Formats: sequence, C-alpha cells, structure tokens
Amino acid sequence: MNRIAFQAHEDGASARPKGTAAAGNSTTSGEGSAVAAFDSSPPDNVARKQAALDEALGAELEEIASAGLRRELRTIGGAQLPVVNMDGRELLLFCSNNYLGLAAHPAVVDAAARAARDFGASAVSSRLVCGHMRVHQALEEKIAAWKGTEAALLFSTGFQANLGVIGCVIGDGDAIVSDELNHASIIDGSRLSKASVRVYRHNDTGHLRSLLAGCRDAGARRILVVTESVFSMDGDIAPLREISKCCKEAGAWLMVDEAHATGVFGPGGAGLAAQLELCDAVDIHMGTLGKALGSFGAYVAGSRVLIDTLINRARSFIFTTGLPPSAAAAASAAIDIAVAEPERARGLLARAHALGLRLRKAGFEVPQLDSQILPIVVGDAGETVDLATRLLEHGIYVAAIRPPTVPPGTSRLRLSLMATHSEEQIRSAAEALECEGRAAQQG
Ligand SMILES: Cc1ncc(COP(=O)(O)O)c(C=O)c1O
Repeated sequence: MNRIAFQAHEDGASARPKGTAAAGNSTTSGEGSAVAAFDSSPPDNVARKQAALDEALGAELEEIASAGLRRELRTIGGAQLPVVNMDGRELLLFCSNNYLGLAAHPAVVDAAARAARDFGASAVSSRLVCGHMRVHQALEEKIAAWKGTEAALLFSTGFQANLGVIGCVIGDGDAIVSDELNHASIIDGSRLSKASVRVYRHNDTGHLRSLLAGCRDAGARRILVVTESVFSMDGDIAPLREISKCCKEAGAWLMVDEAHATGVFGPGGAGLAAQLELCDAVDIHMGTLGKALGSFGAYVAGSRVLIDTLINRARSFIFTTGLPPSAAAAASAAIDIAVAEPERARGLLARAHALGLRLRKAGFEVPQLDSQILPIVVGDAGETVDLATRLLEHGIYVAAIRPPTVPPGTSRLRLSLMATHSEEQIRSAAEALECEGRAAQQG
C-alpha cells in the first residue's frame, strides 16, 4: 500500500516526502517543490501488520478460488453499448443492465452533462444539510407522478434504499416475510431492522400465506412482505396479484423492489405493479435508476407520510451524500424516453422471448422467457465459468453468476438483452451458444 509521508518544514515552503532525497529523486518535481511523492516502502511495523492481514485474507481467497468462486474485475472500454471493448477485443455484450440502451443515449448523456455544468459534479453534501438541489426535487416529483404515488424520495443507490427503508417501517417485535431469492440488499436491510425474518419459497404464495398466519400467531405487531417484481438473477416475475391478496388478508404491508422491472414493464416503464394495476396495493415501491434508466441511484415511492418518515429516519438516506445532479438529470431524461418510446421495452421483451425459445430448442435450460433476463442454468460453478470463457472466444460476453449470488448448484449464465441489440447481434449470441451446446452434447 502506498502512503504519503510529509515532513513538516518550519518555513512551510516545501514539503518533502519522508525518506526521499531532496534533489534528483524521480518522484518529486525538484528541489523546493511542494509536490508529495509516494513512498512505497512502509515502515517495518506497518509492513508486519500488512503481511499478517494479507496472510489471513490470502488463505480465505485461496478457499474461494479452490471452490471455483473467485471473482475478478474485467475492464470495459467505452459505454455499455451492444459492442464493447474488453482487453483490446471487440465483444458483443450480453450481460449489461442497460436494458433500454439508454446509458449512452444522446439525450440522457446531454442531460447529465448539462446538469453537471449547471449544478456541479456532485451534490457534495447530504440532502438534509444542503445537498437537496432542484434536479432532485424535480426528479422526485416526476417519479411520484410516474408511479402514481403521493411522493417519492431518491436514494444514492438501490442497495442503500433497501438498507434504509425496511428498518424505518418495521423493527423489533415485527415480522418480515421475504422471498427466498430476494436481493442481498433486501436481506441486509431486513437483518438491520431487528424484526424477525421469515423466508418463503420462491414465488410460492401458499407458503407465504402459511408464514403470514404464523406471524400473526406469534404476535407480530407489524408485518412487511417484501418481494422483487422481476427477479434479478432468474428474470422471472413475482405473482404480485396473489401476493397482494395474501397481504390484504393478513393485514401485512407490501414492499416491491422493481429494480429490474423499472423502465421495462408497465405503462411508460413504471413497473410491474403499474402494469397489473396494483399501485394502490403496494405500500412501498422501490426501484433503481442504474439499470434500464441508464443512470445511477434509486427511488422509493409511496405515501407522503412514508416519504417524510424516510427523510427523518432512513439512515442510508440521511447520512450520505446526495445523488450527483448529473445522475438525477440523466434518470429524468431516461424516464421521458421510456414514456415516449414504449416500443423499446416491447421490442426488448419480444426479442428476449424469441431468443429464449431458440436456446431451449438448442437444449439449454432456460427456466423462463417472461423478461429481458434469460438465465441459462448450468449448475456447477466451474462449468459455468468454462462456458462463459468459451463464449468469449466466440466474441460474446456473458458473465457467469455463481454462489453466493445464486444458490449452490444453480450457477448460470445470466443473459440480458438491450433494446439496442440488433437482430444480427442476437443471432450471433444464439449461434455461439448453439455451437457450445452441440459441443457439450458430443461430449
Ligand atoms: C433487485 C435489486 N435490488 C436492489 C439492487 C441494488 O441497486 P443498486 O445497484 O442501485 O445499488 C439491485 C442491484 O443489482 C437489485 O438487483
């Protein structure tokens, strides 16, 4: 680890990094310079501590690697377009959440640039101090109107939204009933809330109903049911109508995370609850701006009282810097496009459905075809990584998804489409997978 060690100079005229020569050192800009250089050799005590840390963590990393679960960052050059450059190679990108292809849309990018010029690069402060800017206000009003709720509140990420919201409405002595495949942020938000958490089998409303009855029997004061609407790693759709019925019967509140439905489902991309005309049956609407809307951040929408409660109590809203103005403006422009061009989402879903059918015919296990996310379940983590690696050789980039993101034994390729993929690009992905499918069948 590098560190900068300044030596104090009585005259304050120059600061020389500790342990470096005053002149002729390649890391300084010369005698008398106030530029600090990195001294890459830590003192002995720091080096010893670092070595102990590295040894402990290194052993754990080895365990992760030997289970075939080590993850690494891959660097993409340029925007999240259907064709990206990775490690100097042009690849067709089939795992981005840029579902509507808006992240590099000129109107979205221009809105971000304009906001950066007008409001600066950052909100710099938390919203409650002085980081609440006109762009935030305007976007919150737009989202509330779009979702058909009284109010909305921006969070800096979806993870923070889920961390913050759950514990604001539910706590000690209460119960949360959560789908087993809910996102990590819902799981962590539930844990932080101190409520008792019961987990129902994925999309199983019979199980949900029986857990809800159990909550009442156990004397839970308040009950919150939480589900995603389109599941992030499976792409399947929650039976929201039935879930909302269960909530009504049990007097439970309903929170729906629309991270992967926002922009794609519902009128103007307002989400699955809107599509099913269930907006009023959902007490807490959550969605993200960093997927189909091509920006960054998240919202919670609901009653004015809910939003005022979050402003006053949600720690992940209160104690963090407000969303960058450019992100708010980009999301706002993206919503306008989603509303004005519903054919983007329609075409995306139709093409995903057709591709899923084709892959099923080729022998792949594609459990559902209802959304823009097509999981190709392989099972074994190592085999999934191998398949992803072979697809790279065909010029197709699809990330391998392994535990703990998905349950053990269900490793998969999570193929996701963008509205901006051409038919030809989709055909290339299908042909690459078909080729690998044939190779696997031949042994
Ligand atoms: C269902 C779900 N909720 C919440 C989040 C977190 O959103 P963000 O990426 O904005 O933190 C994600 C992101 O992957 C998600 O898939």
